[in-house]
Parts: sequence; C-alpha cells; structure tokens
Amino acid sequence: MKRDLLEITDLSSPECLALLQRAVELKSVRRHGGYAHVLQGRTLAMVFEKASTRTRVSFDVAMHQLGGHALMMAARDIQIGRGESIQDTARVLSRYVDGIMLRTFEHGTIVDLARHATVPVINGLTDLAHPCQVLADLQTCLENFGDVTPLHVAWIGDGNNMANSWINAARVLGFSLTLACPPGYDPHAPTLDEALAWNPAIRVVRDPAEAARGAHVINTDVWASMGQEAEQAEREIAFAGFQVNEDLMAQAAPNAIFLHCLPAHRGEEVTAGVIDGPQSRVFDQAENRLHIQKAILEWLMGGRRLV
Ligand code: CP
Ligand code: NVA
Repeated sequence: MKRDLLEITDLSSPECLALLQRAVELKSVRRHGGYAHVLQGRTLAMVFEKASTRTRVSFDVAMHQLGGHALMMAARDIQIGRGESIQDTARVLSRYVDGIMLRTFEHGTIVDLARHATVPVINGLTDLAHPCQVLADLQTCLENFGDVTPLHVAWIGDGNNMANSWINAARVLGFSLTLACPPGYDPHAPTLDEALAWNPAIRVVRDPAEAARGAHVINTDVWASMGQEAEQAEREIAFAGFQVNEDLMAQAAPNAIFLHCLPAHRGEEVTAGVIDGPQSRVFDQAENRLHIQKAILEWLMGGRRLV
C-alpha cells in the first residue's frame, strides 16, 4: 500500500527516528555516493498554490541528486487554477508521475489529493501543517544535541502550521514542548488535544519567558503567515511582547539554539542579533531541508524501508 506524508503523525516513532538518522547519514555522504540512481526514471510533481524558496529548491535538487526529475507547477498555470477538481488532478497526475508534493491553503485539499492519488503525496505546507520543515528542524536538533527525546523545546508566537507540526513531533517523539501564544492565536485545538493523549508534556502558556526558561530550543515564525497578509497590522499589536530577542534567549539553557523556518522578518518576531547571532542555526535548518527531503523521497518513492 502506498504511504503519504501529510503530517508527522503519518510516521511511527521508530520510523521518524530512522528518517532523521537517514537524513544525517545522507548529509555526511560526499559526492552523492551510493544514492545517485535511487530514483532514476522517477518524477515528482510539485504543485504550489503559495510562494516558496526552500521547499521548491530543496525538493528539486533532492530529486536531481537521487537521479530523478522534479516537475514544478504553479497552481495558477495548470487547470486547478481554472477549477479542475483536485480528485481529477490526483487521478491524472498519478498516471504520469511517481509522487506528488503539494503546497496549498486548506489541509482538506491535500487529504483529498492523497485519497484520490495512487502515488505517494507529500505535504509541502498547508495552513494546518508543515511536516517536512519540522523534520528538518528535528534533524538540526539531533545534530546539535545528539538526541531529541530529552529536549525541552519552546515555541514563541503564532499557533500556526509550524506550531501544529511541532506539537505532532512532540506527540510522536515524546519530548517536552511549551508554546507561548497570545490569546486568540493558539494552535489547532484538535491537534493539541490528540497530542496530549500521547504526550502530557505539551503546554500552551501566555508568557514567552515561561516557555523559554531552561529550553534547549527556542523556535519562532512570522506573525502573519502566507494568506494572512491583510491581518499584518492587527497581528503586530497582538504579538507585541512575543519577539525573540536577546533578553528572551537569556532565559533559555546556556547551550540553547535558535530556530526559524524562514523567511524571517528581522525586528518583528526576532531581532537581527538573535537570528544572525552565535546561537542561531537557521541556515543549517534550511540546508537540512535538502537532506531530509532525500530521506523522505527514498522512503516514499524509492521503496527504502525505514524500520
Ligand atoms: N521554510 C519554508 O518552507 O520556506 P519556503 O516557503 O521558502 O519554501
Ligand atoms: N508559517 C509560515 C511558514 C512559511 C514557511 C507560513 O505558512 O507562511
């Protein structure tokens, strides 16, 4: 049966750890040795309804390095943009390609796509979740701390798609996660409730300092995600006090790292001093998108077993 990656919860805990280990291994292999033909003759269709730099480039380069091909499609340029159904698009693309990556708005769209596609579907970001990014972030944590499970992770800011995927990561891997969100900007309630049944060490608080205290990882993201641009001004008011700055970093563990999925707005959700400072790992995170993408593609499209 085909597998999809719509959220981190599509992976069991051993599978998630194996995927992260494989990404670390792929990163250490030089000159694409041993994996340059893994996806020879295979094609990944990439459909984007929103802008992208990292997701687009890392999947494209990953397919190339694995010996396959990536097909870039902006939704407005294909018939989806003129109203062709996601169901028909899924069936048609499945006749041509070996995997589909979609970046879209409503999460239900990718669930529909996966239901009607006969090839694996990968979530390249929805309003609900951004699993490939958080897997790259977990790889970055693994590189810095050698283990993920004992970490205390803090999320500061919007309870958005990234926050939801961190919650699902904590559910699967069992680490402690505290999210500081302003009232009205909490994470997706069903995602949080389901995760709490697996891992009670997930908390939502209102005070960023409380979340940051003693944390090994300080995470944030933009205050207005793609599609929320019209809310920028009201969000700037709601998120005042939720900036990751030097004072907040001082609350964290001395060896804490700072993560941000990028793109970032220096002077808004994070100061330049933090994102460009010694504790920041944001460009390792961005690089790790390439390595985790290869591990994901090998697994879903190349038949490589994780466990
Ligand atoms: N972090 C991330 O997904 O970046 P892009 O929007 O550039 O793909
Ligand atoms: N939360 C952000 C992440 C961008 C990679 C957004 O959805 O726009």
